Amino acid sequence: MAQNLMKSPHSTNPLSLRRLRQSQTIRDLAREVRVSHDQLLQPLFAVDGISAREPVPGLMGVFRETPESLLRQIESDLEMGVQKFLLFGVPATKVRQDFNFDFTAHQIRAIKQRFGKDLFLAVDICLCSFTSHGQCGILNSEGDHVENGKTIEELTRAASMYAEAGADCVAPSDMMDGRVGAIRSTLDQNQFDRTLIMSYSAKFNSKFYGPFRVAANSAPQGASLLKDRATYQIDPARPTDAWASSIRDAEEGADILMVKPGLPYLDILVRLSQEIRKPWAVYEVSGEFAAIDVLAEKGLILGPEAHLEAWTAFIRAGASMIITYGARNAKKWLQGVL
Ligand code: PBG
Repeated sequence: MAQNLMKSPHSTNPLSLRRLRQSQTIRDLAREVRVSHDQLLQPLFAVDGISAREPVPGLMGVFRETPESLLRQIESDLEMGVQKFLLFGVPATKVRQDFNFDFTAHQIRAIKQRFGKDLFLAVDICLCSFTSHGQCGILNSEGDHVENGKTIEELTRAASMYAEAGADCVAPSDMMDGRVGAIRSTLDQNQFDRTLIMSYSAKFNSKFYGPFRVAANSAPQGASLLKDRATYQIDPARPTDAWASSIRDAEEGADILMVKPGLPYLDILVRLSQEIRKPWAVYEVSGEFAAIDVLAEKGLILGPEAHLEAWTAFIRAGASMIITYGARNAKKWLQGVL
């Protein structure tokens, strides 16, 4: 085809690709992918023990919310056309085991009582905001290893409490082996067979989670093996692990799979979304999101346009949904009110 075009005797400029770029109208018609605000999920942080909401450093327009401000924020988000959320509960006290999930469950109940089916509520399942050491699970007695089995017991307990409180979807982000299967069977046994599971199946051990860890008060505090999350999150140089854990999570019953972070891992998203035919979410994580705004603040790029460009890349790469801190601005930005 390309050969023929090049050889056409009738065309003086057979290679012109610019005809399709000459106006907004033709560019709109020729677009292969589109981003819509209804593909986006907005993260929310509900924080116990603070008296007023606090801005999250680096994430413009995102707050650590009190129970009251949380409901006000959701109300204004709904008015702005945001209807899908990913909730993170941050407890006031941190422990090493016997975690108390009541605060998060209360927030879910309050949100659902107030807004009901108007909104889709996914809830993150992880222990890093609950543990005194900031690891995503329970440590062994030597304190040098996150125990898989014991951690899963806590994760499944959280998942059933959140499902019972009204979560539409639970989203395990801990990266323990076998947690999706355990959560699915516990939910099914407790009549929560309609609660979705969105698995952070291809979650990498990334340096781009910085602002989130401030918001969720969840940075790892340990030394040596416990200074980061390398013993459970995927090594950035191991794409095969992302594939293996996504296949496994799909087989264990995950309804939605995820790549996280987004832009530095687009290759993973392209490959996995083609090979594993499930709805794919991508998490535009705090650091990659904030990086755009830092450049925009310096006057070096146009922030909203750059955010839309990143979202277009995600959809082009195969995502059907995007978790982004900019969801609440999307309608405005997409309508060209930049
Ligand atoms: C919990 C978790 C993390 C994020 C969501 N859930 C990261 C982490 O600290 O490992 C990151 C989200 C972001 O950076 O926006 N384990």
